[in-house]
Amino acid sequence: MRGPLAYIGGKRAIAKSIVAALPQHTAYVEPFAGGAQVFFAKTPSKVEVLNDLDAELINFYRIAQRHYQELVRYMRFSVVSRRYYDLLRGLDVGSLTDVQRAARMLYLQKTSYAGRVTKQNFRTGIVQPPSLNPERIPGLIEETHHRLARVLLECLPYEKVISKYDSPKTCFFVDPPYYGVKHYKFNLDPDDFRKLAERLGKVKGTFVLSLNDVAPVREIFQDFRIRGIEMPYTAQKVVGRRFHEVLITNF
Ligand SMILES: C[S@@+](CC[C@H](N)C(=O)[O-])C[C@H]1O[C@@H](n2cnc3c(N)ncnc32)[C@H](O)[C@@H]1O
Repeated sequence: MRGPLAYIGGKRAIAKSIVAALPQHTAYVEPFAGGAQVFFAKTPSKVEVLNDLDAELINFYRIAQRHYQELVRYMRFSVVSRRYYDLLRGLDVGSLTDVQRAARMLYLQKTSYAGRVTKQNFRTGIVQPPSLNPERIPGLIEETHHRLARVLLECLPYEKVISKYDSPKTCFFVDPPYYGVKHYKFNLDPDDFRKLAERLGKVKGTFVLSLNDVAPVREIFQDFRIRGIEMPYTAQKVVGRRFHEVLITNF
């Protein structure tokens, strides 16, 4: 299935290639889950963990997992409207219930330009209809609920999740924010990428790391296997442009 959230930097366009690159494993862990398009594209593993430092995102998955009927009921009255969008965006999440927060997250990701998480804008267009289709929301949430039924959800810094779930039978799909780009509430600076490389160098399991193909990335991760992969832009102004990515592995 496709992940329920439109999410900037999401790997939907190359999810199949990444799934094909995953080695055999018992436990599958995404320390930087975001919209988790690779997780939603693959067949379930015995143990699965989704982690992200963004509490709104993990709250959405948790509510889809445990209270999906309530989320469906709450979403029933959502319409694609700029006024409703502005109203939701302006709300203080601290004043909302967890179900309201999850509904707000789903609504904003579906209606924001390019699935942006920060600097969001209401998406309009004349080529594609809005990606929020109220008639499809109940089915989408129910499908998400079933897929998440036995998944462990964490909201921790990625290092903690690696330490907690590492084993010779663990496969990590590591999809941090792109090098040099700040799209999220939490981002990595060049020093953080060096620490990530150091940490990944010590894992007992396997990893597939996805990043933008830029010189510092090739330098920082030079001790691992690196191969290029092309990804069509989703937030594109020029149709057909492609974006160069690398898949970095320790096997
Ligand atoms: C590139 S996105 C993941 C996209 C995802 N693979 C998809 O298909 O939608 C990176 C994610 O890492 C999260 N993140 C950033 N810093 C983090 C940290 N230190 N620990 C855990 N998650 C972090 C961000 O909140 C963001 O959701």
